[in-house]
Amino acid sequence: MLKVGIIGAGRIGKVHGESISKYVKGAEVKAVADPFLNEDIKQWAKSMGIRHVYTDYRDILNDSEIDAVLICSSTDTHSSISIEAITAGKHVFCEKPIDHDVEKIKEVMKVVENSKFKYQVGFNRRFDHNFRAAKEAVETGKIGVQHVIKITSRDPEAPPISYVKVSGGMFLDMTIHDFDMVRYLSGSEVEEVYAIGGVLVDPAIGEAGDIDTAIITMKLKNGAMAVIDNCRRATYGYDQRAEVFGSNGSVAIGNDASSTAVLSTGDGVVVEKPLYFFLERYMQAYANEIREFVEAIVNDTDVPVNVVDGLEPVIIGLAAKKSLMENRPVKTAEIKKAFGL
Ligand SMILES: NC(=O)c1ccc[n+]([C@@H]2O[C@H](COP(=O)([O-])OP(=O)(O)OC[C@H]3O[C@@H](n4cnc5c(N)ncnc54)[C@H](O)[C@@H]3O)[C@@H](O)[C@H]2O)c1
Repeated sequence: MLKVGIIGAGRIGKVHGESISKYVKGAEVKAVADPFLNEDIKQWAKSMGIRHVYTDYRDILNDSEIDAVLICSSTDTHSSISIEAITAGKHVFCEKPIDHDVEKIKEVMKVVENSKFKYQVGFNRRFDHNFRAAKEAVETGKIGVQHVIKITSRDPEAPPISYVKVSGGMFLDMTIHDFDMVRYLSGSEVEEVYAIGGVLVDPAIGEAGDIDTAIITMKLKNGAMAVIDNCRRATYGYDQRAEVFGSNGSVAIGNDASSTAVLSTGDGVVVEKPLYFFLERYMQAYANEIREFVEAIVNDTDVPVNVVDGLEPVIIGLAAKKSLMENRPVKTAEIKKAFGL
């Protein structure tokens, strides 16, 4: 039985703990660490059968029985804990993003590349049944030559302003999943980015130095074009749709709802709203990503989302940020060059 430690017992740490206990055979959570340990976390750990609860994640790293750690703490801790964990001989699953700072990601890459331990990054949408079906249609050639990739990604509500201030900005916090999805669906890299954005949902987001609505267009290395539309608030729920269109046709995926019931009356035809947010929509995807992480360790195979997959969306996000600020298309090569990549 593979023994796992969870670092950070907030929203996503608890999701992973729960999915291991319910859905991932061959792994058990031995310990959890969070500096803000409260009764809620202790009760949750007890209910999950987790035997050890620490305030210092180093207690997990020092436990030689623990094979792997899941880094689910706040983003500013990911890169340093990643390096410490690999150095301590642990396989690592790190939540997105590895860091907002490319220099720090480079340091993590160096350590990962020189170690025999697995390092997976938490781009959960790759494990969602809908996105996987679209990817399979593209990969098996059913769409033909890719022309256009369209992604709609809107949250049901904006995060608190305290979160906005430390989020790294919408492109690195929210759109990063969509940048990853463009790479995943196309199997290609982004060459050039042009972004426009504005503050249409909440002026406080603008005062905090961020945007809440954006359109990002991209040119890909394979010749295709991509467009993402983002908004921090959609009144009808979490809107996650995508389409890949090519020479032979198109594959499109829609939202999941709690039922497929269609109510038709004299007033009109009503269907269910999309599932509320990421915890509802992607619970199975979160379980799948951890299951595949565990399988990669047990079978000594490549992880499905590696450290380069962790770096590339940050580069695209920085290109988008620069494009928005300078009101011009920005090549990803320009960003890479600035970091000696
Ligand atoms: N893949 C996804 O869909 C997804 C979804 C949500 C969050 N995330 C990512 O997961 C991370 C956590 O997000 P969240 O929403 O769970 O935040 P959260 O604030 O709910 O939880 C973070 C937890 O980490 C703890 N923490 C802070 N520093 C720590 C340290 N040094 N050691 C151990 N624990 C520490 C905090 O006390 C808190 O309990 C973020 O990087 C976020 O980007 C990813």
